[in-house]
Amino acid sequence: MQHLREAAAYIQANSQAFQPETGIILGTGLGALANEVDVEHEISYADIPHFPVSTVESHAGRLLLGRMAGKKVAVLQGRFHYYEGYTMQQVAMPVRVLKLLGIARLLVSNAAGGLNPDFNLADLMLIDDHINLQPTNPLIGANLDEMGPRFPDMFAPYDADLLRRAEAAAQALGQAGTTRRGVYASVPGPMLETPAEYRYLRTIGADAVGMSTVPEVIAARHLNLPVLAVSVITDLCAPGHLKPVVLADIFAAAGAAEPRLTALIKAVVAGL
Ligand code: HPA
Repeated sequence: MQHLREAAAYIQANSQAFQPETGIILGTGLGALANEVDVEHEISYADIPHFPVSTVESHAGRLLLGRMAGKKVAVLQGRFHYYEGYTMQQVAMPVRVLKLLGIARLLVSNAAGGLNPDFNLADLMLIDDHINLQPTNPLIGANLDEMGPRFPDMFAPYDADLLRRAEAAAQALGQAGTTRRGVYASVPGPMLETPAEYRYLRTIGADAVGMSTVPEVIAARHLNLPVLAVSVITDLCAPGHLKPVVLADIFAAAGAAEPRLTALIKAVVAGL
């Protein structure tokens, strides 16, 4: 708690006590959303006390505070993954610090492999449930009673109202045909899955698989923050589609979906 408070206090002291209403984690595919923010304050992760520093090259390490569509947002440009060697407490720290700054909801994006055979490359998937296959989670250990309860409920991890708003936005933007809904399985990585693992993930009910998001969502639900999470389908992993994954192809699919994802998130934020 002490570390979280010190990090939040540093950000407040360096942003004229800016109070964001919505937190946004920019995963793969949502980087361009930063261009939609009228940035008022920009803080490097390296300057925030106790904040982890991103090791993944495709992720910048900056917190942007400003307005998008007139709404006050805090944008985490760069996230932390368990496979980088961080503890789950470190992975979840940005979410908890944003909550101390005052956010009332969290929006998250990621890149994911598509397991549902109906999905196409560069589709968006609104996550409506998840399966946590990470070896641990940010709530393990002493409970931070000031953050939330020991045994948080997970009946509705993804907010129904935000999902409705996202579906309405997709419809209005003419994206209904490329916007899906489904279950996201979170695995530790960093290696991708074997063919048998992809079949297993499909069998247990996942529509997409990735290496992030669920730790942050668990921390957010512990804090009782409503969450909207969107996957970009960057590779097709259903039997018959499977081929060796080339990282450049993943980035290409993420890039193809980026304008749609950016427009969708902006429309949701505008309507809040
Ligand atoms: N598996 C796991 N993580 C991923 C994938 C995948 O196929 N694609 C993008 N992130």
